[in-house]
Amino acid sequence: MNVFANITDIRRERWADPSLTWGLVPTMGYLHEGHLSLVRRARQENDRVGVSIFVNPTQFNDPKDLEKYPRDPARDLSLLEKEGVDLVWTPTEEIAYPPGYQTYVQVEEVTKVLEGAARPGHFRGVTTVVAKLFNVFQPHRAYFGQKDAQQAVVIKQMVRDLNFNLEIVVCPIVREPDGLAMSSRNTLLSPEARQQATCLYRALSAAKAAFEAGERSADRLRALMEQVIAEASLARVDYVSVAHPETLQELDRVDDHALLSMAVFVDGIRLIDNMVV
Ligand code: PAF
Repeated sequence: MNVFANITDIRRERWADPSLTWGLVPTMGYLHEGHLSLVRRARQENDRVGVSIFVNPTQFNDPKDLEKYPRDPARDLSLLEKEGVDLVWTPTEEIAYPPGYQTYVQVEEVTKVLEGAARPGHFRGVTTVVAKLFNVFQPHRAYFGQKDAQQAVVIKQMVRDLNFNLEIVVCPIVREPDGLAMSSRNTLLSPEARQQATCLYRALSAAKAAFEAGERSADRLRALMEQVIAEASLARVDYVSVAHPETLQELDRVDDHALLSMAVFVDGIRLIDNMVV
């Protein structure tokens, strides 16, 4: 496994044999089974697998959040080595955003709601760094988790709009045995908050069950999710949503498909989760 910070080194390895197909897994490190599931899928579908590890400062609207974002590069590299990854890019901030940097990618409509509304500037940072990753690796396929459902929608929109020549593969959420969606942020939870953090999964499951039992009112599905969250004493709802899975606009009625999603602060740690019904 080759690990490089410099872009010229990544490009040299990437193009050493132009006939090979490449899959890219962009990450911010502190890897867990969710990331490794993306790496395994990329491994199955491509000749070579590249991974980026970069805690991207431009996507953090809250500097404190960036500061406390967990990091363990040595452990990350050892996990990736075991998965048979070929190439890892670990740029410094100076390499990703050299002095004088001034270009940003902004997707419009689908970034105005949900995470985009709650975290101003977040998706501008995500699409900017992902566009850079696509240009550096020029992969055939790039892998993202359904856990960040809106991110996947936004990136697909960017790829369509800017004619990036690659396929976006969105992989299922990986959950802990009690239903909590895997996330690097889970390690920041105290033992009690960790127990209560299952309220996101329980709320989504309750709304899904209600939908499957015939409930079609989006308001009643939202209220049901809020009610389950309210039962957890350490949890505070940031938003709950029942939206169209592609436009991300809030629905009145769920006639066909919907994305149920939420952001909840559990003891001050912001967690997100979703289910498609
Ligand atoms: O999903 C993430 O970890 C990040 O948003 C990504 C796609 C690696 C961009 O920094």
